[in-house]
Amino acid sequence: MLNIPLMSNNIKKEDIDSLIEFLKTADRFTQGPKVQEFERAWAEWLGVKHVLFVNSGSSANFITMAVIRDLYGAGEIIVPPIAWSSDISSIFAAGHTPVFVDVGKKNLAMMESEILSHITEKTRAVFLTHVLGFNGLSEFLVKELEKRNIPLIEDVCESHGATMNGKKCGSFGLASNFSFYYAHHMSTIEGGVICTNDNRFYQYCRLYRSHGMVRESTDENLKAEIAAKYPELRPEFLFLVPGYNMRGTELNAVIGLNQIKRLDENNRHRVENFKLFLEHLDPEKYYTDFDVEGAVNYAFVILLSRADPQQFKKLTDTLRAENVEFRRGTAGGGNLARQPFVCEQMPEFDPATLTNAEFIHFYGLYTGNYPDLSHEKILQLCDLLNGI
Ligand SMILES: Cc1ncc(COP(=O)(O)O)c(C=O)c1O
Repeated sequence: MLNIPLMSNNIKKEDIDSLIEFLKTADRFTQGPKVQEFERAWAEWLGVKHVLFVNSGSSANFITMAVIRDLYGAGEIIVPPIAWSSDISSIFAAGHTPVFVDVGKKNLAMMESEILSHITEKTRAVFLTHVLGFNGLSEFLVKELEKRNIPLIEDVCESHGATMNGKKCGSFGLASNFSFYYAHHMSTIEGGVICTNDNRFYQYCRLYRSHGMVRESTDENLKAEIAAKYPELRPEFLFLVPGYNMRGTELNAVIGLNQIKRLDENNRHRVENFKLFLEHLDPEKYYTDFDVEGAVNYAFVILLSRADPQQFKKLTDTLRAENVEFRRGTAGGGNLARQPFVCEQMPEFDPATLTNAEFIHFYGLYTGNYPDLSHEKILQLCDLLNGI
């Protein structure tokens, strides 16, 4: 049996050791100096001014959509059907309306022509997911959105280290969200970050992370401006926005500080693995024309070259028999517009109109690609797949 899990050894003994060392002397465990240190390290790694550590990538999504509403008003958010549930639920929660745009097969991200043709005067943001390690952006799209004054929010939860023209994904838009869940490129067990160069956006995110409290802001002018508006309220208990408690802990940050040191090296292995995988996969049977420029995939994306339900069943049966763990439909389990929580809110929308997302939903899956997956196993996996 091949025995390939989705992820392996992502929290290492050295991470646990650093945590034990920290716990021996620590006297503060919730958000504190270690969280700040990790935020600075991530800001430097990504090349942005402000980073906010939160307790998950989904929390990052919920905060981001709420801040878009507060700063730009509720409206339409252009979003892909191949993403994660919280990319959509955060839109509903903030009182926006999702506008689904189909994805392309080459990078599983929204197609730029489709994004641009769905922009209306109600569009408040384009919320683009970089799926499973692929860069989902083009320079043309970034420039076009800037020209039209449409904020771009990047969900980079699955694509740490992916680049567009040598610049890291997550540094192009108004803000970007990353997840450090166990299955991703690096992990803090649970955790996430919101990254931005925009001070006002950042300050609002700070408030949302901690109950909506104004004292969480690091901008003295903003604090004074708000306090002056509410003289009857105590500045230390001034809840400006309907916030959450989405803080991370010092423990998660300690692991993050250790993990970030290994991220680039781990990603080099992932890139090498994915290249080897694609080189040996039969293009007659599987789609192999992925846009790998700048991609850092923690998964091997397997799409049938043709719609063939029986072949797909054979594929999943074979992987199960060999104990190769997989997720059908790729990110988020496939076409999210089919999910009950979406259909209930948008009964008139027909998910089948998203042709590529439908294909990926029914004929796509992914298996794990982690740094210590041996080349031998990758070649065996290709042989297995090609023989189906
Ligand atoms: C694209 C994408 N966005 C958001 C999330 C949510 O991240 P988390 O699991 O940290 O809440 C995930 C999660 O796996 C994801 O794949």
